[in-house]
Parts: sequence; C-alpha cells; structure tokens
Amino acid sequence: MRDGPLEITDLLWSSSGTAVVRADAVELLRSRGQVRAAQVVSMLPARDGVLDAEAIDALGLRIHRELQRLGEELQLGRRVASVVRTLLPAGSAPVRVVDVGCGLGHVLRSIAARGELPAHVDLVGVDLNAVLVAEASRLAALEGLDCRFVSADAFEPGGVIEDGSRTVVVSSGLMHHLAPEDLDGFFAAQARLGVAAFAHWDIAPCLWSTMGAWLFHQARMREAVSRHDGVMSARRAHPAETLLAAASRGAPDHDVEVREGSRWHPRALDVLRPLVGVRR
Ligand SMILES: C[S@@+](CC[C@H](N)C(=O)[O-])C[C@H]1O[C@@H](n2cnc3c(N)ncnc32)[C@H](O)[C@@H]1O
Repeated sequence: MRDGPLEITDLLWSSSGTAVVRADAVELLRSRGQVRAAQVVSMLPARDGVLDAEAIDALGLRIHRELQRLGEELQLGRRVASVVRTLLPAGSAPVRVVDVGCGLGHVLRSIAARGELPAHVDLVGVDLNAVLVAEASRLAALEGLDCRFVSADAFEPGGVIEDGSRTVVVSSGLMHHLAPEDLDGFFAAQARLGVAAFAHWDIAPCLWSTMGAWLFHQARMREAVSRHDGVMSARRAHPAETLLAAASRGAPDHDVEVREGSRWHPRALDVLRPLVGVRR
C-alpha cells in the first residue's frame, strides 16, 4: 500500500481476498489525517464489523460506472486509439492491445464499438478485480463487441502477452494507484516481455487538475467515495519526472516520453496525458 494519503477504493478489497475490517480501514485513514474519508468508510455497510462484500462489490460497480462516464466525457477511447494507431507494429500479422487495470473496460469497448483500430488488432482488458472483469465481459457481450476481459495482475501480464514484439500495453488511471517505488517494476514487467510499445494515461498533477477534479466530481459524481477518490487521484498522481525516471530504469530498451499538454492554457482533455514507450 502507498505511503501518504489513500484513496478509499485502496481499502475496500483486500488483495488476499480476506474480509476487510471496517474499523481497521477507518483507523488507517484517521492515522493519515484523512478525517472525511474515515467518515465515509465508517458509514459503509458492514456485518459484524466486516465490510459487507456484496454491498461493496455493488458500490465498486457504481463507482466504476461513474468513472466510465468521466472517461466518455474525456473521450478516452478515441484518444487512446489515436496514439495506439501510431504505435502498432508494422505488417498485417495479429497485434494485441492489452489494457491493464481496465476497470469496466470502457476504453477498449469504445474502441471496438467505433472500429477505431484495424481488424488484425486483438483487444484484451485485464484487471485485478474479478467483479469488474465479469461486468466488462457482460457489457461487451451485450454490445456485441469483439474484445475480451480477464482477471490478472498488471505486474504479471505474461498470461495475456504471447508475443511481446506484437503487443502494445495501455492503461488509464492506473499509475497513481502504484507507489513510486513500484513503478520501475510495473514498466519492467512489460519490458521483460519485449512489448513493442506501451502508453499509460494518467492525471497530470497540477493545480488545474486538482481544481478540475473537484469541480467535475462535485457536479457529476453521486457516490461519496467517487467524490473523495477523484480529487485524491489528482493529488497523488505522479509527476512526469517520476514516471520518466521509473520507465527509463524499468524499460531501458524503450524510448520514453510524457506527452504533456500545456500548463498555461489547460484543455480539459489534456488532464490525462500518456507516458509513451517505444522499443528501440
Ligand atoms: C482508477 S481505476 C481505472 C479503471 C479504468 N482504466 C478507467 O479508466 O476507468 C484503476 C483500476 O486498476 C485496477 N488495478 C489496480 N491495481 C491493479 C493491478 N496491479 N493489476 C491489475 N489491475 C489493477 C483496479 O482494480 C481498478 O479497476
């Protein structure tokens, strides 16, 4: 778990699948000075002091639906596709685009629905949270889309990357969940498999993005957890220098750059910007 302030969603599911004791989560947040977050967690449904797993999974789905709406507002699918198109390995042999930490898979579902990548590109979303993966799969089937979703860890993507040289790995809103000391390992996990390229979108931390996140989440989000975590995401997003240094160490065979938008004339769509790595 990261040092410093936490997002509430960091605490709602345990990585080992064990029950989450509500009082422990509340205490942890209080110990980090997060009084409002502690109050939100203290009101979450629990049985015998343990967070009610079914209710928390349902809450997780509601939060991610709100996140999907934000992704739609920011036209994430279109933006990811426009960068990935430039990163695809040459030739017409199959290429795989893997979205790690895909949540409800709205980025790949949007790309598949609009046919924004060539037909030889296979779209696979990966997430640790099996409930989100099941919902992403259900939605893709309902929408008749040619993309699929599996449960896996972004730090162990080997199961979904068969031929690294014909794979592009993407993510959106994942990197700020990772501790700075874990970023090298995140990039290394992809580099070890020799991926052709990666492009990871996350919030550019600055006053504009924190203010914008607060305004947007107050206006559009209904869940207290979403409102809290949306602003916290912007506050704890990694600066470009941190991402670049970690990517250079973790993926030394890739040329890396952060494609920042302008700071002084911020455009809403630039709030999330990609760190792009291309194998030399
Ligand atoms: C803020 S959400 C972003 C979801 C989605 N990419 C989007 O743009 O809406 C972060 C997601 O990363 C997932 N996640 C966090 N750590 C992960 C890991 N190590 N491997 C795979 N998924 C992870 C979480 O379960 C969550 O769905």
